[in-house]
Amino acid sequence: MTPPRDVRDLIRRKRDGGELSAAEIDWLVEAYMRGGVSDHQMTALLMAVCCRGMTDAEMVALTRAMIASGETMRFPGIDDRTADKHSTGGVGDKVSIALAPLAAAAGLYVPMLSGRGLGHTGGTLDKLASIPGFRTQLDAAEFERVLRSVGCVMGGQSAALAPADGFIYALRDATGTVESRPLIVSSILSKKIAAGPRALVLDVKVGRGAFLQGRDEARALAEALVRVATQFGLRAVAFLTDMDAPLGHAIGNSLEVLEAIDLLRGAPAAADFAELTRVLTAAMLVTAGRAASLAEARPVVDDALGSGAALDVFRKLVAAQHGSVDAIDRRALPQAPLRVVVTADAGGVVEDVNPMALAEVVLDMGGGRRDMTDTIDPAVGIWLHRQRGEAVAKGDPLVELHLASDTHAEALSARTRGAIRIGTAHRATPLIHEVIGPAGDTPWMGWNTRLPL
Ligand code: URA
Repeated sequence: MTPPRDVRDLIRRKRDGGELSAAEIDWLVEAYMRGGVSDHQMTALLMAVCCRGMTDAEMVALTRAMIASGETMRFPGIDDRTADKHSTGGVGDKVSIALAPLAAAAGLYVPMLSGRGLGHTGGTLDKLASIPGFRTQLDAAEFERVLRSVGCVMGGQSAALAPADGFIYALRDATGTVESRPLIVSSILSKKIAAGPRALVLDVKVGRGAFLQGRDEARALAEALVRVATQFGLRAVAFLTDMDAPLGHAIGNSLEVLEAIDLLRGAPAAADFAELTRVLTAAMLVTAGRAASLAEARPVVDDALGSGAALDVFRKLVAAQHGSVDAIDRRALPQAPLRVVVTADAGGVVEDVNPMALAEVVLDMGGGRRDMTDTIDPAVGIWLHRQRGEAVAKGDPLVELHLASDTHAEALSARTRGAIRIGTAHRATPLIHEVIGPAGDTPWMGWNTRLPL
């Protein structure tokens, strides 16, 4: 037990740009968890961190203290094959749903802890909740049993793993202190490290549909995540990936799960979604030390997808987490009662699809939450018939809205139409902007912009 301190001294020091020691940060988190530091005091400290930042040593200490607030999973016998992926969240980002079974089919064990959606970014837990019966609240024993028997497991944050992050994140959400790089780094990594993987691939989104829209900010976050993860002995690599348009065709919970299932089935898939899923899975194999390079990993991933092995793993995962495999096989997920097709009012090329505008439409349909207490309608969403760069003729379907009712159908259609610009030319954007690996990590060397994928 560390000696008692006066939290006001720590708040003042951080306010004035000073540094907290690891022992002070340990004490702070531990005292907050037992009620010795109030929400008011913690909020003041979090705001001081937002304004003043943290050193790497402070970020490591905060991450460690939040991990220590709960249990840490270990998986003897398989831990050298464990790997996970984390995305900072985007519009239509359903990669995890296909990637976890794909990585398992390629020989990894994926203990994945996912989050719920907030604001314009969806959450994997909400998407999975659209599978009838699927349970994500698993205790540690069940989490491990599913991981060992299936090869992957997809759970939500529980009171057991990094509980301090759960409480602090709720406070941040209520006090305008989410947007802080050191707090984001320690929040993401405390959960991920507590769940026990040895390797971690980070998908840091950049662009209008991303949490951090600017490239410099996203890069700084990616670098900090890799540096801090490395301090915990985790092999980590971060990809800065494009979120200046929605990923794939679907935005909305059921629709995104269907799109992920279709990829696993080998049905024609959106190129950006399929490619990102493959690359990030290959990166997991490299990061976990199961392949020497992406070039070596890619055929393993392609085979796991093409042979149907990844779909088999997904079906097993759904069964192991109490979901309906029959619903997966029949693509029988919740469906919205009303569909409205928005057509192109001119021919040409889709020059732009504004991800934030479409995410706002889906939020207003009831497909996301503005506040953590909001309930979600899993069935509503948008299916994009045309992505950026695709040609359209006048009258072609651009988008299909899946609506709960016709109450605001016209206004939502008009907003959807306004989010898509048709013109004459499209400037291709790279799917992967940069790859940031730990200094000196050879598989990633020279692997930065505009990869020949
Ligand atoms: N996601 C998290 O888990 N934590 C943050 O602080 C931000 C995004």
